[in-house]
Amino acid sequence: GAAVSADVSKMEEGQLIRVEWRGKPVWIVKRTQEMIEQLPNHENRLRDPESKELQQPVYAQNRHRSIRPEFFVAVGICTHFGCSPTYMPNEFASQAEGVRSGFFCPCHGSRFDIAGRVFQNVPAPTNLEVPPYMFTDEFTILVG
Ligand code: FES
Repeated sequence: GAAVSADVSKMEEGQLIRVEWRGKPVWIVKRTQEMIEQLPNHENRLRDPESKELQQPVYAQNRHRSIRPEFFVAVGICTHFGCSPTYMPNEFASQAEGVRSGFFCPCHGSRFDIAGRVFQNVPAPTNLEVPPYMFTDEFTILVG
């Protein structure tokens, strides 16, 4: 399928936009500094914090799972049975444990952090998929 480009120059911090790629929803989140900083806090509660179990692009094999830490790009489909998780920029309950932001799947309760990494003890088997993408200039992302 054709690659799709997204202009992220006007995105606000914390905003999520969607593009469609090969019939799939792809999310682009402009993470806040606070979102980036919380990523190490809960890694002992993740199933696969380093994304070792998932085939994914080399540039996603890091803690923030992205080329640039502030931009997270992922396929917005739950890895359990394909529902659409809800973006929760600030609403996760376990604030005391340093996890405020992520994605919640309403179908069977899977939770993912703000890098799409799945928590333990939920039905989703793997982290969210990171699609192939690149920056064609500072604020243009080409997915596909
Ligand atoms: Fe998301 Fe089941 S489809 S938890």
